[in-house]
Amino acid sequence: MEKNIIEHSYQISLSDRKILNNHNSFLIWFTGLSGSGKSTIANAVEQELFKKGIKTYTLDGDNIRRGINKDLSFSPEDRTENIRRIAEIANLFIDAGIIVLAAFISPYKKDRENIKNIVNDVNFVEIYIETSVQECERRDVKGLYKKARAGEIKNMTGISAPYEAPENPAIKIETEKESIESAVKRIVDYVKPKLEIKK
Ligand code: ADX
Repeated sequence: MEKNIIEHSYQISLSDRKILNNHNSFLIWFTGLSGSGKSTIANAVEQELFKKGIKTYTLDGDNIRRGINKDLSFSPEDRTENIRRIAEIANLFIDAGIIVLAAFISPYKKDRENIKNIVNDVNFVEIYIETSVQECERRDVKGLYKKARAGEIKNMTGISAPYEAPENPAIKIETEKESIESAVKRIVDYVKPKLEIKK
């Protein structure tokens, strides 16, 4: 099917959009267990960037899985497809000149590696939100760990499904040791130079 699809060349390019926005576009990817604090930190980072006039958008497990990915389960294959589609969506946003923040468990190393193939290495900033299972289970904001322990939820990451931690993330946030404010500051400081358009 793909061979009969010929890309149309549009006149407004990514460089035009970057100049209009006055910043680069890329993907800030938050990975970690359910309840680790990914969405909370992504949300706080987005607010900081927004205040600086930067165009942003957040993709998050709970919104994407209610819409475009509502056909996907938590099996390893479906998680792979979940992450692939999100990376493709992020790639469109990057092409539209927007900073994308994405908060997904994304437990498999190979799936996170594949994001780089889709959006390009230079556009991928991996942030590992490291919170122990014990702490996530203690917080249990959504009550999912309790259900998993009771056997009502299968394939629960950290309980009955694996989480492969990143070995070399751009930034690691240990939420049991660091405040949200400090985490946000470190992330914003890290992305600041990447936002600047080289003239
Ligand atoms: S991922 O593994 O495919 O990256 P994703 O981030 O989209 O997961 O979705 C995770 C969210 O789905 C969790 O925050 C939680 O609210 C919910 N969820 C429901 N069932 C599970 C499960 N079995 N394992 C992990 N999260 C689950």
